[in-house]
Parts: sequence; structure tokens; C-alpha cells
Amino acid sequence: MTDTAKKPILILGGTGKTGRRLADRLTAQGLPVRIGSRSGTPPFDWENDATWAPALDGVGAVYISYYPDLAVPGAAEAVGAFANLTVASGVRRLVLLSGRGETEAQRAEEMLKASGADWTILRCAWFSQNFSESFLLDPLLAGEVALPVGAVGEPFVDADDIADAAVTVLTRQGHVGQLYELTGPRLLSFADAVAEIGKASGRGIRFKRISHAEFTAAVAGYELPAEFAWLLNELFTEVLDGRNEALTDGVERVLGRAPKDFSAYATETAATGIWSD
Ligand SMILES: NC(=O)c1ccc[n+]([C@@H]2O[C@H](COP(=O)([O-])OP(=O)(O)OC[C@H]3O[C@@H](n4cnc5c(N)ncnc54)[C@H](OP(=O)(O)O)[C@@H]3O)[C@@H](O)[C@H]2O)c1
Repeated sequence: MTDTAKKPILILGGTGKTGRRLADRLTAQGLPVRIGSRSGTPPFDWENDATWAPALDGVGAVYISYYPDLAVPGAAEAVGAFANLTVASGVRRLVLLSGRGETEAQRAEEMLKASGADWTILRCAWFSQNFSESFLLDPLLAGEVALPVGAVGEPFVDADDIADAAVTVLTRQGHVGQLYELTGPRLLSFADAVAEIGKASGRGIRFKRISHAEFTAAVAGYELPAEFAWLLNELFTEVLDGRNEALTDGVERVLGRAPKDFSAYATETAATGIWSD
């Protein structure tokens, strides 16, 4: 057990997909946590660096989940500035949630390392939970998922596995200076993933491949912010070109067990009723 047992762990994005699960797990172990988000106490806002120092006051370690995505221009600089402030405040233990095959995310990793922190990097595949806790939920409920992506295989990783890995690296010795690539155990195309969700939820859901231009127009129709449309196109263009079509042993290395399969995610999530009409 590290000294994070005595001081709270600041969890940035602590109400989001991985942060919420991490907070639940640490709290269940009796470890103090502080939620670092705009709704936290004190609030933490990536857009307002005056909120950073108050959120760091008295903490023993930080889980860094950037918002909205490390692929966004300026993300690496923000993570670097935050890491520098954190180390200067005397908080050395930093764990970064990163993304596979993203140039900007890898730049953020370098900024973290350059800060002099005792770092660990969790470099993750696409989260399975994008289908239930993010932008893919509405299309699934509407019965058709239309994306600018073809047969490329993605090793979707479960947010539960990421949270388990984050607990381990934050509370056990031996993970400083380690980079873990976390993937699920199987490559699936987006069409495969949608088919598995259709099967698990007992609903007919179509998958349709569309062009990037059609996708941009469709996103605009949902009245999402322009930068979100840019981000989605960037992710579908840059990350899903086949570069990430490989499985890794990161979950096994950290947790000593196999990662959760997408079919288990689909079955468990269908049982919550979130994909029901
Ligand atoms: N999703 C994926 O498949 C994936 C894969 C690999 C890596 N990643 C990386 O994981 C990170 C998190 O992505 P995610 O999709 O899982 O998001 P998420 O954590 O689910 O995002 C929501 C969280 O961000 C907080 N938040 C929103 N705006 C904020 C702001 N201005 N300042 C501070 N906190 C803010 C929200 O709380 P409040 O509303 O209370 O502020 C909430 O806690 C990103 O950096 C991304 O690059 C994601």
C-alpha cells in the first residue's frame, strides 16, 4: 500500500466512465477520494486553471482523465501544465488515462513524463461503454448505427477493467514508470459490436457504413457542438485506420487475469435495460 492510503486520491473525470468506477472501488476499500470535475468540491475545470491548485490541496495522488479527449488540440499542453503544477505542489504520484494510436495522446504522455512525476500510463483501446454511456447510445436506441468505419477490428476494452487496473497501480507498489496498453481480448468491427448488442438486447439494430461527409452532416443534425463533430471525425479517421488492430496483454500484466470480453459487457449491460425501448 502506498501513502495514497492516508491522503485522498484526486480523480479527474471522477463522475465519468472510468473515474466513477475508480471512485466506487477505492471508496469500497475505505480509501479517501476527491472527485475532480466541474461538479466536484472544490470544482475542477480543465478550462479554468485557477481551479487546479485548490483541487490538489492535500491530495496524495491523481488519476488524470482529460476531457473531452486527448486528441483535441491543446490537450497535451493542458496535461503537461497540470502535471507540472502537481509536482510543484509536492504531489508526485500521477496516473494518466491515455488512448492508443493517438498522436496527441502520446504527446500528452511525453509531457507527463517530462514533469518529473512518478507516473504510470494506462493507454487504452476504445471503451465498450461508448455504446452505453456515450455518443453511441442514442443511435442504438434509434435502431441504426451509421459510422464512417468498415471492417477494421478494434479490441474494445471494458471500463471496469480500466478501473480495476487504476486501483491496482494507485494502491500497490511496482507500477511507477510503467506504461500499460489495455485492450479487450478480441478484435471486433463496429458492425460486430452492434450485432452483439442487438443479440444481447433482443433488438434489431442495423449497422451502416457511411462516408466521413455523411457522418459530419449527421452529427450536425444532432446539434452537437462543432468541436465534438470534429473530434469524432478525427477519432474515426486517425485511430481506426488499422493501426490498433492488435491485442495486448496489459490487463493480464496489471491484474493477473484475462480482460472482460465484449459479449460479457453486452449481456451485463443489456440486463440493466439501457438498450430497451
Ligand atoms: N472513450 C474512449 O473510448 C476512450 C478511449 C481511450 C482513451 N480515452 C480518454 O479518456 C478520457 C476520458 O474520456 P471519456 O470518454 O471516458 O470521458 P468521461 O470521463 O466519461 O467524461 C466525463 C467526465 O468529464 C468531466 N468533465 C466534463 N467537462 C469537464 C471540464 N471542462 N473540466 C473537468 N472535467 C470535466 C465530467 O464531470 P463534470 O460534468 O462534473 O465536469 C465527467 O466526470 C479522454 O481524455 C480520452 O482521450 C477515451
